[in-house]
Amino acid sequence: MLSRIKDLVATLAPRLIEIRRHLHSHPELSGQEHQTAAYVAGVLSSCGLRVQEAVGRVGVVGDLIQEGAHDRLLAIRTDMDALPIQERTSLEFASRRAGVMHACGHDVHTTVGLGTAMVLSQLGKDLPGNVRLLFQPAEEVAQGAGWMVEDGVMDQVGAIFSVHVFPSIPAGSIGIRYGALTAAADDLEMTIIGESGHGARPHEATDAIWIAAQVVTTLQQAISRTQNPLRPVVLTIGQINGGRAPNVIADQVRLQGTVRSLHPDTRTQLPAWIEQIVAGVCQSYGAKYEVNYRRGVPSVQNNLALTQIVEAAAAEAWGHDRVQILLEPSLGAEDFSLYLEHAPGTMFRLGVGYKDRPNYPLHHPQFEVDETAIVTGVVTMAYAAYKYWQQQGSSSSP
Ligand code: NI
Repeated sequence: MLSRIKDLVATLAPRLIEIRRHLHSHPELSGQEHQTAAYVAGVLSSCGLRVQEAVGRVGVVGDLIQEGAHDRLLAIRTDMDALPIQERTSLEFASRRAGVMHACGHDVHTTVGLGTAMVLSQLGKDLPGNVRLLFQPAEEVAQGAGWMVEDGVMDQVGAIFSVHVFPSIPAGSIGIRYGALTAAADDLEMTIIGESGHGARPHEATDAIWIAAQVVTTLQQAISRTQNPLRPVVLTIGQINGGRAPNVIADQVRLQGTVRSLHPDTRTQLPAWIEQIVAGVCQSYGAKYEVNYRRGVPSVQNNLALTQIVEAAAAEAWGHDRVQILLEPSLGAEDFSLYLEHAPGTMFRLGVGYKDRPNYPLHHPQFEVDETAIVTGVVTMAYAAYKYWQQQGSSSSP
């Protein structure tokens, strides 16, 4: 089966490059992926998939259903949106839209999804299960996955695979991460409420600026003294507003920040932990407070058994020396985690780095990918999907 998949992908390679270049030159911002979605739907229909459009607002779902198979689905998720960045590459297929660029490789992800659909649809009855391809909008704003899930795309899904490009891994290699891949990213907003007064008479006022400063300092110190150092927490206050005049004691300060964590148990206790510290500081000095902790996307936790399937698929396809086990997670966020609240899954890193010249990071206006990675990505994804169903078939009845 592996050599059959490799042959199919080799034949498709020129078409896949063409698709990727088309997508790259026509990037669309989060939630506005209308042309991309129509293009994706067209390719999926031409492969004989059952296609639903306008799922999750602008998303597309393509189902490859085997006759007589049970109704469980393996989902494969890719994302379609670009970033508000002015492209500064000299590629002949550079963005044709001013101020919009595929600088996070979602054009490659969409191409890998389409390539996987093309290959799996040609396997016919030799694919031992159903596959659902998800093309989601608005990943960059961490919204699209939620929209897709709300529209029921995870119903009957037993497992889900996804992929993200990674410029620090060379093209031709795959990055595999066990456990946490990305962090949970939550929003924090706090208001410290004191009592205004004359700048010269602090004893008659309650200084919200001084208390807010204590809150920020105490929170940072408390992380190092009360949180498990093996379960990292990053708390960044990025915005602070308060006060009206240099000689007037401020009665209110508003603090806003982001809270990143990797371990689900850590995340669960963070709102109460923050509130306890803020309450303690404020009560000591007679201030009131409000704490608003808004949960954003959870941490992506790669499932062990599914990650083993992808690792085995990649190692068989490319050799162990082209499979890198990633030792560290990222404290970035990825809304793939929202699908994982409904089924176990795993996301692998697709190396897209050039070996013979410097690589720009993701979200950089000169970000480029070595396109040979597309074949690596499609073979790995398609073969992992095949192996998933092969394993399921040997362990459960249809
Ligand atoms: Ni991305």
